[in-house]
Formats: sequence, C-alpha cells, structure tokens
Amino acid sequence: TKLEMFVDELPDMPRLPGFEFVNGVAVSKSLTIGMYHKKWKFHRDLPLTPVFAYGTSKNTATIPGPTIEAINGVDTYVTWQNHLPSKHILPWDPTIPTAIPSTKKGIPTVVHLHGAIGEAESDGHAESWFTVGFKERGRTWSKKMYHYHNFQQPGTMWYHDHAMGLTRVNILAGLSGAYIIRQPNVEAPLGLPHGDEFERPLVIFDRSFRTDGSIYMNSTGNNPSIHPQWQPEYFGDAVIVNGKAWPHMIVKRRKYRFRIINASNARFFKFFFTNGLDFIHVGSDSAYHERPVIIDEILMAPSEIADVIVDFSKSKSDSAILANDAPYPFPTGDPVNKANGKVMKFIVEPHHVNDKSRVPRKLLEYPSPDVSSASLTRYIAMYEYTSPTGEPTHLYLNGMSFEKPVTETPKVGSSEVWNVINLTEDNHPLHIHLGLFVVLDQTELVNKDVFTACMTKFNDAIRCQISKYARGNKTEVLAHEKGWKNVYKMMPGYVTKILVRFSYIHSNASYQFDATAEPGYVYHCHILDHEDNVMMRPLKFIS
Ligand code: C2O
Ligand code: CU
Repeated sequence: TKLEMFVDELPDMPRLPGFEFVNGVAVSKSLTIGMYHKKWKFHRDLPLTPVFAYGTSKNTATIPGPTIEAINGVDTYVTWQNHLPSKHILPWDPTIPTAIPSTKKGIPTVVHLHGAIGEAESDGHAESWFTVGFKERGRTWSKKMYHYHNFQQPGTMWYHDHAMGLTRVNILAGLSGAYIIRQPNVEAPLGLPHGDEFERPLVIFDRSFRTDGSIYMNSTGNNPSIHPQWQPEYFGDAVIVNGKAWPHMIVKRRKYRFRIINASNARFFKFFFTNGLDFIHVGSDSAYHERPVIIDEILMAPSEIADVIVDFSKSKSDSAILANDAPYPFPTGDPVNKANGKVMKFIVEPHHVNDKSRVPRKLLEYPSPDVSSASLTRYIAMYEYTSPTGEPTHLYLNGMSFEKPVTETPKVGSSEVWNVINLTEDNHPLHIHLGLFVVLDQTELVNKDVFTACMTKFNDAIRCQISKYARGNKTEVLAHEKGWKNVYKMMPGYVTKILVRFSYIHSNASYQFDATAEPGYVYHCHILDHEDNVMMRPLKFIS
C-alpha cells in the first residue's frame, strides 16, 4: 500500500522530568519505566501496529518512549521494568551470540543510556539483560534500579535497548527514546529557542509495514544455512518521526530548536530542506560546539545526534520539506526512492512573529583535544566475513568475537589515540561507551588489498606496517563534526584517527563513580544488525 505523506501531525513525546523541585531546588527523582507490548498508530491509513513501547504505564507508553529531562548535577534513578510477552513480535536469530533465557520464555532486554558518562552497573551492558519481572537475568546483571549521575556536560542523548543479539529487533520493535541533560545556569544565557513549543526532539527511523499494520522484517537470512534469520542491514521504506510516518508540523516564522536523533538500525540520513533553508548546527552527540555552524545538509549515521536551530523566518515558501538523499547501505548502496527520500513537512505560517530567541556567536567551550596527552595508541580494525556466495556472514572488530578476553583496558581519566581501520566496503558508525572523542583526521589506505591480506593473517596493524599504507587522500573533518562526539562514521578504506577522553570534558573533576567496576563497558558499530553479529567488544577500565 502507498501511504499518503504529511497527513499526521508530528507528536511530541511525553516529557518526563528526572528531577523534582523541593522548595524551589531541583532534587533527584526515581522513575519507573516499563516496556509494554501494545499497538501503535504509525499513520492515519495504516492499521494499528504491534510494538514494544517504553512508558510509565501501558496506556501512556509511546513510540518513541517519553523524553526524559534531567538536570546537570541532579541524579536520576530509573527502574526499567520488562512487561513483555513470552514471544517476540519480530524474527530473531538464535545462531548469532544471543541472550536466550534458560526457559526459552520471555524477551531479554536491557537499557543503555547512549552518551551517558555513568557507572558500569547502570550502563546497560549487553549481558546485563533481564526478562519479565526480572525472572531471568544475564551473566552480568547486577541491579534493578539504574543510577544516572547527570554530572556530565549538557546535551542530547537517547536511551535504547542493548540486549545481546537482540538489540536490532528490540529497537525495531520500538524500544528507544530521547534523554536531555540541561544545565540552566550555563544554557539559559545562550538565548536559544526553548520551551515545549519551540524546542523539539525528533527521533527518526525507517520502518516497513505489512498491509495489516505489522512491522515487516525479512525473516530469511542472507546466508540461511549459516544464520537462518540474520540480515546484514535492516532498511524500511517509511520514514518515521516521533512515531508517525512522514508527519507534518505547523511552525511559526521564527527559530526552532530540533534535537535530531537517528534511531535507525542501519539507515544513514543526509538531511536537507527542499526550499534551501539552512541548519544552524549547535551541538552533536551530547555536547555543544564552541561556535554554531551553518550548513545546508547533515549526514547522520545511526545513533548520531544533531542539535540544530532552524529559522523559519528565512523561509521563502510556505512549506519546507525535510528530505534525505543518503544511499543505503551507505555509501555504495541504492539511491533513495520517493518514499525514503522524504522525512517530514514543515508548514510555515504566513505572518511574521516576534522572536526573542537568538543564536549567539559563541556557545560553550570545552578543552580542545591534546594529542600529546594521549597515553596510548590503539589500532582497531573492522572486518567483514563472507560466505562463498560473497554474502556477509558476520562482522568483527579486531578479528575477535565478543567473548574473547578484553583487549581494550584504558586507564580511568586517560586519553588515548584510536586508529580505526575500516577494511570493509561500508561506512560503520563506531560508538564508544563512557568515552567522548574528537575526530582528528581520516586517511585513505593505499594498496588496501595487500594490507588487508596481511591483517587477515596477523591481525596486527604494526606488524602489517600500517604507516606504509595509511598515506592516501585525507578527508576533511567538517566543522560541525569537529567537536566532542561519542559516535562517528568510519569511512570504508580509511583510517580514522580519534582522540578518546575517559574523563569529563566540562570539568576537571574525576568520575562520580568507580569506572573500573564490573561489568565494564563496550564499544561497537552502531549499525544494530552489525552490533548484534558481533561488531562489539568489551571495554574495561583500570585505575
Ligand atoms: Cu547507542 Cu552501545 O549504544
Ligand atoms: Cu557496522
């Protein structure tokens, strides 16, 4: 069926404060958020869709989940409760390393706050999963109530499922939502558009539906004799924003702030406005830039975040379509089609209004990366393995499965240089838990095949003389991507050099928790279908 675009209004998800005021002072709060099996209306003309949704109750649960709003320095506690049925609504694959309850009943889930600088026990480690009523628990499960310190810099994050081998299907079923940390004394003077009407999170992902409304996911693997269900990338034809397919939003002729989160499994978006409106990029994954950057397109990999101001007073037309032209898989896949090339429509009211918000020339300044401070240099290679038919069977980081003993053990408070060598054909967004990093440069590999052959044999970048090969074209890091990030696009055939910092960027304070505690953290490709099979490795800290 063809669904008509722009018929549903853009929803705003329920906003859930992670603090409360006592005598005018913000104090910590404890929330209970459940995961529920319910039905969701993705489009006016589409029957109800069975989904898994986060919410404070089944009735109020939404796709995406409620937007949690926290205040810097005020702890938020969340008890995540699994109320899911015994069977999944989507096909999963028991042949990839997967959380499987011993009773085979119940759906393992665990929640990760993406971008959070927080304790390992609350980080949503893939093996800290639990089923309904905490009946069954994964190997590293340790507590019911998660503790979010919110001590880090203000910015946009998101929370989502992270269960071993099920992340792609649990998120596809609906388990994701936005999380904002505010620091009023620092942010208010900036004067950016704010308030529920003018500051809106946009959680964007692609989905396909059957005519009965259910989510369509290919249930036959690309290598069925090896992995009966697993496919290397999920792509859907409908673009969903805040739970509606191609919605519209009526806007005033003034500035708005949008916190755009790419919550897709595998789809990259290259956003632009069809009427030429610009984005004023003020922040990315959980941190502000030092200065705003004006751009007319934004390329976002899965899990990247763009915090942008759009000034509709500059619109030359009465509507602006937010469109997408990123090929899928990125960068060498199919071009977008009529469906997935459109995202949403802004209908701009004709009369001008008084807009007191502004975009200052200077935002927030954080220490610039100091490469000389790095205590260690690591090489992280990305590999894809294929069957004799040439179809991917699995992907690894450093040629190792997730179960292999931990090899990345940074010192708490240190900085490290990571050279991420992408030996595959696809762009992989690498995400590092706990760390924030700055992209230093991207250099093309020359004679990549010779180098890859050596790496496949020895899996040792030094032994394979990486410096002999990492000397091709350099790709410029774009101005809006030069700030602190927690995920970045690793270009195929390139070495991407990043400086990772394992301490706060906004303060010299040491962590408010013991980062060396079990079960530690992980780092991984954020294409969920890759992460699950198993482009993920453990990350443990030492003191
Ligand atoms: Cu957004 Cu480890 O994930
Ligand atoms: Cu990947």
